[in-house]
Amino acid sequence: MLALVTGSSRGIGKAIALELAKNNFDVAINFNRNSESAEKLCDEIKNFGVKSDFFQADVSDPEQVKNLFKAIKEKFGEPVKILVNNAGVTRDNLLLRMKNEEWNAVINTNLNSTFYCTHEAIRDMARAKFGRIINIASIVGLIGNPGQANYAASKAGIIGFTKSIAREYAAHGITVNAIAPGFIDTDMTEILKPEVKDSILKSIPIGKMGTPEDVAKAVLFFASEENSYITGQVLAVDGGMTMC
Ligand SMILES: NC(=O)c1ccc[n+]([C@@H]2O[C@H](COP(=O)([O-])OP(=O)(O)OC[C@H]3O[C@@H](n4cnc5c(N)ncnc54)[C@H](O)[C@@H]3O)[C@@H](O)[C@H]2O)c1
Repeated sequence: MLALVTGSSRGIGKAIALELAKNNFDVAINFNRNSESAEKLCDEIKNFGVKSDFFQADVSDPEQVKNLFKAIKEKFGEPVKILVNNAGVTRDNLLLRMKNEEWNAVINTNLNSTFYCTHEAIRDMARAKFGRIINIASIVGLIGNPGQANYAASKAGIIGFTKSIAREYAAHGITVNAIAPGFIDTDMTEILKPEVKDSILKSIPIGKMGTPEDVAKAVLFFASEENSYITGQVLAVDGGMTMC
């Protein structure tokens, strides 16, 4: 069964791609800039005995998303059955300093890409009467965060989108769920100042940052064919930070 993970050349996306491959899914890797690491990941994935290929596309551009799905279908000879909307960026700033470009870049990459990819994937999933869509949100979309109004809005938007599409397609064998990671050790959090990291760590009951693999395990749970009765859910993978 074919899975597409957007923005999967590194970080959480890479861990998801590997976890799915280990569990027998064929994996289409999407990257925007780093073809070298996408190619390396593709080779690693093939070692698990599944099919894999890598595709360049900026998922914030609807035309590129259209071409991405076309290219994947041509290459694998089948449509995407598991879609993981993972690509994401941050452009943090306090509200009064936030530029329109910072707002738009985050909404386009995080939220609009989720709509574009889901829009492209859903017809074939409905035809097959099977599909799994897993959207990577964030606990920031649940509880907010100063300096991240754009990011929080994009992730809260993803959660509303997830629940609406889950309701629209529940009768078509398609489940749509979201994962809300907390504080995960990747390049995205690497840039935080040590004092910011320390204060976040104090708010995590489990007492440590999560790993990309922690998120990947949750994706595998939602991706599995057996999990057909769970839809419209938001699962926090956050070491107990939110408990909501
Ligand atoms: N790291 C965390 O603590 C954390 C917490 C909550 C949610 N998340 C979410 O998890 C997801 C993965 O984040 P990460 O921590 O691995 O960060 P990351 O920066 O390592 O990975 C993000 C990936 O998205 C890709 N990407 C960005 N814009 C793209 C575009 N326009 N088209 C295609 N690909 C694009 C990047 O190239 C990169 O590979 C994101 O949606 C992020 O918001 C991360």
